[in-house]
Amino acid sequence: MPGPLAPDPDSAALARDPEALAARLREASHEAAARPDAIRVVHAPGRVNLIGEHTDYNLGFVLPVAIDLGISVAIVPNDEGEVRLTLVETGETATFPIDDPGPKRNHWSDYVAGIAWAMGEAGLGPRGFDGVLASDLPQGAGLSSSAAISVVSAWALAGGDAPPVEPMGLVHVVRRSENGYIGLNNGIMDQFASIFGRAGHALLLDCRTEHHHDIPLADPDVALVACHSGSPRKLESSAYNERRAQCDAAVAAIATTDPWVTSLRDVTPEMLAEARPRLDPVVAARAEHIVFENLRVVDAVAALESGDLPALGRLFAESQASMRDLFGISSPELDALVDIATRIPGVIGARLTGAGFGGCTINLVHRDAVPALREAVLRDYPARTDLTPRVFEVQASDGARRLA
Ligand code: GLA
Repeated sequence: MPGPLAPDPDSAALARDPEALAARLREASHEAAARPDAIRVVHAPGRVNLIGEHTDYNLGFVLPVAIDLGISVAIVPNDEGEVRLTLVETGETATFPIDDPGPKRNHWSDYVAGIAWAMGEAGLGPRGFDGVLASDLPQGAGLSSSAAISVVSAWALAGGDAPPVEPMGLVHVVRRSENGYIGLNNGIMDQFASIFGRAGHALLLDCRTEHHHDIPLADPDVALVACHSGSPRKLESSAYNERRAQCDAAVAAIATTDPWVTSLRDVTPEMLAEARPRLDPVVAARAEHIVFENLRVVDAVAALESGDLPALGRLFAESQASMRDLFGISSPELDALVDIATRIPGVIGARLTGAGFGGCTINLVHRDAVPALREAVLRDYPARTDLTPRVFEVQASDGARRLA
């Protein structure tokens, strides 16, 4: 059994220090103390998405980047068929039997239980483990802490040496957990990025064919900066699931005249214009965002490949306006962050990243303008919103991996 572990406010440092994290596990678990050679440390990153928002479940394109902030676990398998996982930051331990994770509790451990459930359902034979978890990824910030905890959990439940299944299979195990256990009808972007991330690259994914390729972020002068609005991402499954239902309603209406249309991925701007009179105006606006956002992803890849930074900036601005006015997922706080950023010379583009409804913006910034952006956000944003922002310069990083 894990013994009590004193809360450690410096969980973020432990997330980057596999030896120290393994030492915490030895303190917390008799199994780990007795079998130090069986300890494994696994890390999974969070992500930002450069462009292509809410396109994943519409079987379109996304362009995420795995980042150098994430979640690490040190684990040792146990023979009792139990998960016993302690959060280093708070010292809190979650315990449940792997063959009966029970219902969702609205607790961080749901993401671990959901993976145990999804692995069991897929016949992937989850194993019990003792573990400690440390994170330097802010939660509820729209940087995919849920995907990161799910991915490390899958490794942990498979014994820690390797993931339980090949990488794209793991993407679907995580999706099954989110859709079937957590109750969020999301797509595959977040866990895909956390699993397939590659240092120095963005990841272009076609969510229909699941073909993907790595797009170099080759310009050393361009930094990626995430600005956290400080308003927790209110990703009430309800608002997110409602967007998804509206997209499905658009497909159903368009398919009455074009029966081969099975997702908004199949819909061109011309088809949408023709169908528009038959669509509820809100549904039409949602569909318009998706149809043009897919085109923007393709254009953004071309702009990245040719180094056309002004074009990228325009695409970011169009995407943000579309998310605000058509898809309805921005917020006054996110709009303020984008507004503050785009006034700074050297900021190439700014838009909200992830599900929306709070969370972070992603900014493409000439490296020498990063201090000015940071200063402007820290100075102007609290005055406009009464909230405290956080600014993170992030690096494109590798996906989930064993650290020890
Ligand atoms: C969340 C979901 C993803 C994706 C984004 C929006 O992060 O988990 O599947 O839909 O929102 O692009």
